[in-house]
Amino acid sequence: MSVAEIFQSMAYGPAPESAAPAQEWLEAHAPALPLFINNRMVTPREATYFDSVNPATGQPLIKVAQAGTADVEDAVRAAREALKDWKRTPGHLRARYLYGLARQVQKHARLLAVLESMDNGKPIRESRDIDIPLVARHFYHHAGWAQLMDEEFPGHEPVGVVGAIIPWNFPLLMLAWKVAPALATGNTVVLKPAEFTSLTAILFCELAQRAGLPPGVLNVVTGDGQTGALLVEHPGVDKIAFTGSTEVGRLIRRATAGSGKCLSLELGGKSPFVVFDDADLDSVVEGVVDAIWFNQGQVCCAGSRLLVQEGVAPRLLERLRARMEHLRVGDPLDKAIDIGAIVAPVQLEKIRRLVEQGRAEGATPWQPSWACPTDGYFFPPTLFTDVAPASTIAQVEIFGPVIAAMTFRTKSEAVALANNTPYGLAASVWSENINMALDVARAIKAGTVWINSTNLFDAASGFGGYRESGFGREGGREGLHEYLREPWEAQGTEAAGSETLPLAANGHGEAPSSGVDATATAPLAEADGARGNGHSSDELPPLGLPAIDRTPKMFIGGKQARPDSGYSRTVLAPDGRYLGEVGEGNRKDIRNAVEAAHAASGWATATAHNRAQILYYIAENLSTRGQEFAARLATMTGQPLAEAERELEATIERLFCYGGWADKYDGSVHATPLRGLTIAAHEPIGVMGLICDDRQPLLGFVSLVAPAIAMGNTVVAVPSERYPLAATDLYQVFETSDLPPGVVNIVTGARETLARVLAEHDDVDAVWYAGPDSGARQVELASAGNMKRTWMLNRPPRDWRDPAQGQGRSFLREATQVKNIWVPYGD
Ligand code: NAI
Ligand code: MG
Repeated sequence: MSVAEIFQSMAYGPAPESAAPAQEWLEAHAPALPLFINNRMVTPREATYFDSVNPATGQPLIKVAQAGTADVEDAVRAAREALKDWKRTPGHLRARYLYGLARQVQKHARLLAVLESMDNGKPIRESRDIDIPLVARHFYHHAGWAQLMDEEFPGHEPVGVVGAIIPWNFPLLMLAWKVAPALATGNTVVLKPAEFTSLTAILFCELAQRAGLPPGVLNVVTGDGQTGALLVEHPGVDKIAFTGSTEVGRLIRRATAGSGKCLSLELGGKSPFVVFDDADLDSVVEGVVDAIWFNQGQVCCAGSRLLVQEGVAPRLLERLRARMEHLRVGDPLDKAIDIGAIVAPVQLEKIRRLVEQGRAEGATPWQPSWACPTDGYFFPPTLFTDVAPASTIAQVEIFGPVIAAMTFRTKSEAVALANNTPYGLAASVWSENINMALDVARAIKAGTVWINSTNLFDAASGFGGYRESGFGREGGREGLHEYLREPWEAQGTEAAGSETLPLAANGHGEAPSSGVDATATAPLAEADGARGNGHSSDELPPLGLPAIDRTPKMFIGGKQARPDSGYSRTVLAPDGRYLGEVGEGNRKDIRNAVEAAHAASGWATATAHNRAQILYYIAENLSTRGQEFAARLATMTGQPLAEAERELEATIERLFCYGGWADKYDGSVHATPLRGLTIAAHEPIGVMGLICDDRQPLLGFVSLVAPAIAMGNTVVAVPSERYPLAATDLYQVFETSDLPPGVVNIVTGARETLARVLAEHDDVDAVWYAGPDSGARQVELASAGNMKRTWMLNRPPRDWRDPAQGQGRSFLREATQVKNIWVPYGD
């Protein structure tokens, strides 16, 4: 080829990266890689191995151990043992270790990058310029957090032993995302890499040895899902940090339900890439390349749904096809290729199957004219048009280089299409109109939104999902909370001061509480008898007239509602006197309440000032009727009036507290390397189910409801089963306090039954649960349906009177989700 011809075609030849150092490393370790336990490279107890394969050639690279029960046991024991010292190691020392790890990664960056590309099939350009630099960055960033721990998180404690289970798409990066924050905050780790890509994890362990990391602080057990499951089930593990498929995330949610294990899940996505007609189309084309052909599309946040405004769709698609024609698929170690190999035959098969299904369902695929190499596992970049929004390829995560294009006309249609998925991991919005782009960014339900950009990540910015994309954040300050316990929790249960609690013995009892009849129908006779004994002191009928029946109802959509069941449950005082009746709520009532809560979603966009005003107003109106509430509490719970008055005062103060917080729980702007702003906004979660225990029934109720609504959520609250009247009386206060209908809905009845219905409900976005451990388990189990966020307030049960346990930032954090909006600037 002549120079002139080269100038004409702009073609370039191969530019292979040398595999020699990585080959040497493999040969030095042949035939099989060890496990890493207690700072030693050990062979597995049972000699079971499998091949790790180079997806670009289909050839085995080396054998990897399948860790079994005994190996996991050893690793967890080592981590537990190491925890004792590591969590007491001063932050500055931990910072030095993390800094050392970052240095090691940088010094061996090329070996790590080459090995990663050989094992995973990703282009060397990406492993060298993106994965490995981000790994180092993550350790540096978290070295800083280790240093600042005492100052920024005083009194906090690590969660304990972390079981980290990671996927194959970013093997070393996902290791860093879990190991760096865990170690920085004083936890120890047992990590299980994905079975397709374990190599760099073992190499990293060698670097950790060099960095002098103390024994047992980091352990690595390789193996497939069975090894992962052993880790999940191990009682010595305090937290599972998982990244992978939604399917396995669900299994893990169920397996850990009720165990008290902390859990963070970073799952799949079907992220929208939204292009408005005023976008710079050439930038958009490069954006699409990054969004869906980065890492062969095997990216949880891949922009796999291209939503284009109708007017520019033909032009954009034409330019996109032209660009696709020039993409290069091939040897991952060639510095000049754009797309490498698919990780494994099963994954390739899955992509092929879904592409076939797309075709069968009527969509039109387009692929470049050239052919992929046939030796390894390759798949060409693929663009689907004529895609129906409900079709399989528009809904299912393909996890390959396949994008599905759809069109829209208006902004609201774009938002509706973007949100037409159970996932909520990420989104890209392209427009030169920044006002509109930001408006759309706020309307899309996703943990990360990139404006005029895509796939930007940094250790300073939290990454994680909304909805079925999981919960928890990785990176930044928001990610650290996943690895920390609050100071009062860390101090253990003594802080609960159980002696002085009125319900110390039975507040969380498992048996149906005696104050309310478990069967709604049986007690009538008894109740009537009780009525015969005279009315409670705060309801004495005047001058011998029969009392006018006062029937607390449920409170749904701003209206007092009778129970669907037609049954009531009797509320008795501790001495057996009849106090009243409340509705026996059922599935239908919850459904109505959830619907009402959804209809009130405008609350989320009410100004924070407005929400604060309403919280203060509720406090004011409650105070006006304070004596009545205190007397009611005293009769209901049998506590002295003075104690009840204190509960009332504490309730008013709690309302003030969240009135105060409503406009002060600010987000932040993260210091990422972007030339622009990375805005971390706190957003409400949506519809929350709040399940109260029997401790301090008025204060407990408000302790859950107030922070939730202060942050813009709407709620379905199930008040204390035993002492429901404190909450049902409250709805009259709500009615006079300008609280919009549907923001707070109250359903009375059997706690566990209603809790389960809420946890199973697919339109409920989060559940907070205070109650016995068995109930907590049930809620966590049922929550796996739509992967809703849960917060268990049962371990240990909280004394709502103690502000450290009953209010504050942790409540606000659990009532919000962080959305990171990346906005580049400059011409
Ligand atoms: P996977 O979810 O099975 O694997 C992720 C990790 O979980 C691996 O380390 C695996 O060994 C482990 N694991 C599997 N079963 C387990 C169990 N029962 N208990 C504990 N750990 C378990 O993902 P897989 O099979 O590799 O890929 C399947 C699909 O999942 C992909 O096609 C893709 O759609 C999606 N995926 C999503 C990822 C993401 O980052 N969101 C990452 C990897 C896969
Ligand atoms: Mg491999």
